[in-house]
Amino acid sequence: MTKVLVATEKPFAKAAVDKIEAIVKEAGFEFALLEKYTDKADLLNAVKDASALIVRSDNVTAEVVEAAADLKIVVRAGAGYDNLDLEACTANNVVAMNTPGQNSNAVAELAFGMMISMARNAYNGTAGTELRGKKIGIHAYGNVGVYVAKIAQGIGMEVYAFDPFVSADKMKADGVTPVDSVEELYATCQYVSLHIPANDKTKQSINFDLLSKMPANAVLVNTARKEVIHEADMIKLMNERADFSYISDIAPDNKDEYAAFEGRYFFTPKKMGAQTAEANINAGVAAANQIVDFIKNGNKTFQVNK
Ligand code: 3PG
Repeated sequence: MTKVLVATEKPFAKAAVDKIEAIVKEAGFEFALLEKYTDKADLLNAVKDASALIVRSDNVTAEVVEAAADLKIVVRAGAGYDNLDLEACTANNVVAMNTPGQNSNAVAELAFGMMISMARNAYNGTAGTELRGKKIGIHAYGNVGVYVAKIAQGIGMEVYAFDPFVSADKMKADGVTPVDSVEELYATCQYVSLHIPANDKTKQSINFDLLSKMPANAVLVNTARKEVIHEADMIKLMNERADFSYISDIAPDNKDEYAAFEGRYFFTPKKMGAQTAEANINAGVAAANQIVDFIKNGNKTFQVNK
């Protein structure tokens, strides 16, 4: 029997789980659910007889892949797949996929929720500022970046973007001003919204040199990954520039060092960008459908360990 396991330390909305279960059962497969696990041993035990695995930010390490002797496919219900050990998947003939675009709007909305809260001093009764008329730079113009641009335009911000993998014509067609370098983006925009993946090239790449180029009253909004920030550099910059604010969807490892910067930082306690019913349903249903299509028809469209 083909068993599909949903293993999520941070659970999907119930409506998403119900839909995933219905798709799996409709395909004639067995459905299993492991939620809110706190011990890696629970995951290692649950994957033992799973043929397919759906995860979120859960770490699918070599140990997990090797414990899952029957595993054929793992789908990260979401965009960033830095939590999957792709080499281990490939070595064990496991197809790894993501579900690009499915939770992008939720992430973009959170970026603005956090930006507005920061601009209004967390609604503490003092006069804040508005986003209208300000320049926002989108660092990586992918699925989330496109939604960020649309919302920013609705608010009346001037939108710039840098992405070496997206043509200037596409950006211009969206009413976005392309810039030629990452340095130019940071030097131009008071707000920068980060949407780069975490990989060997990008980890710690957002450093003092880059951030110090930002204009007065700069705000960096990170709904990507904490690992792309050079944490020591960020502390140095926040110390040197009292006009600089940092917002991140998930706290950095050195969060205790921010106590001195009251009012200039905000961190979500858990990664919240994709935590909406709609995003959970979109990404979870896509993951379930991709598994069924792979097992029944061999469709590998969203494979990331090619
Ligand atoms: C993603 O990469 O899709 C987001 O970061 C969502 O992560 P989550 O599923 O753990 O909320």
